[in-house]
Amino acid sequence: MNYERTVLFLEKLGQTQLLEYYDELNEREREILLAEIEKVNFGVIGNINKSRAEDGGKVAPCAAKSLRDIAENREYYEREGIRLLQENKVAAVLLAGGQGTRLGFDKPKGTFNIGETRTLSIFGQLMNNIKEVTDRAGCFFPLFIMTSTVNNDDTVDFFRKNEFFGYPQEKIHFYVQDSEPVCDFNGKVLLADKHRPAQSPNGNGGWYSSLVNAGLSEVIEREGIEWINVFGVDNVLQRICDPAFIGATALSGRACGAKVVKKTCPEERVGVLCEKGGKPCIIEYYEMPPELASLRGADGELKLGYGVILNYLFRVKELDETIEKKLPYHLAKKAVAHVEGGKIVTPDKPNAVKFETLVVDMVKFMGSCLAFEVAREKEFAPVKNKTGTDSVDTARELLKQNGIKL
Ligand code: UTP
Repeated sequence: MNYERTVLFLEKLGQTQLLEYYDELNEREREILLAEIEKVNFGVIGNINKSRAEDGGKVAPCAAKSLRDIAENREYYEREGIRLLQENKVAAVLLAGGQGTRLGFDKPKGTFNIGETRTLSIFGQLMNNIKEVTDRAGCFFPLFIMTSTVNNDDTVDFFRKNEFFGYPQEKIHFYVQDSEPVCDFNGKVLLADKHRPAQSPNGNGGWYSSLVNAGLSEVIEREGIEWINVFGVDNVLQRICDPAFIGATALSGRACGAKVVKKTCPEERVGVLCEKGGKPCIIEYYEMPPELASLRGADGELKLGYGVILNYLFRVKELDETIEKKLPYHLAKKAVAHVEGGKIVTPDKPNAVKFETLVVDMVKFMGSCLAFEVAREKEFAPVKNKTGTDSVDTARELLKQNGIKL
């Protein structure tokens, strides 16, 4: 679009503030600005005043494959999981597009060194976890790594410098997740600088649509992949493509599986897997009414006690539907640096809205989900904060308890 057409286009949308500094820009910057404006998904801004309609339906606990059941049937589940891996029916997606603001580390979170006497990056630790499975199965699975426009180059460089941690390079596929515009509380898109609208990664629910938009569904089709294990970057004890989990989910006939741990207390900050209106559903901790979170059964256990740890197995067949059905947008109010009065200002309190979709919302669109319980001390060591709960310190402690030398 040329300048005149862009003006008309933005006037219709009430977004002409994006051209406020056009006269000050050089030729190159003008071209960038017009091209960037054309790419902005203005349609998403309509969600700003929509309070997310609460799904009807009663919240009810969901049953899970318990630790005991899994221990009794481990061999059976693992055999099936290994078979699916060896037949190349499984791939994994590492979600590494987040900004890791709580950790306060300005590089990709996966490059953070959790070692003490040696260098051990979070990515390195996850790749070690993967190696245990590929050694056992005697084969490698396709590994997709989702980054964002902010951290893609650093992430790819890091893998290259570390020689892909010994994983066959042709099996690793990086892709950049899509972005959404960032706007002020009145729905006006902000300028990140004078020639660039502010954008931010579209949330971890964007993993599949971004993979498709990046042209990688072609790999899934070509390789005949039937299951995708999606996992977060920040759990350093994460078991990836765990054969027992794959086998149990596939044998259950359900369209997806979610690894869960028993919550330690009603207030624990994890999403809870339950049922709503007869469908699987994950309620985020900040959306869970306290009176529901603290309900206990006759055995004293929390009724809604299964917390998710960002490790899901999705059947490919049903995934396209999640795109068609469109995940709801969650609005995150954040402090975002932007151009104001001709200068970049960095606010100390939230001034902007980011639009994100969440992987937790995919579960209900899949229709059925197997809750697969795992022992938290063996599989759950999230690195969210610098210190305190779910921090570098607690994760290091858990790694050591699991015999990993730091
Ligand atoms: P978090 O919810 O912890 O968000 O992400 P974050 O951005 O990494 O961290 P904070 O909240 O700013 O401190 C959970 C997982 O989802 C991925 C993250 O990389 C992490 O693996 N994620 C999150 C994405 O891949 N893309 C996103 O847009 C958001």
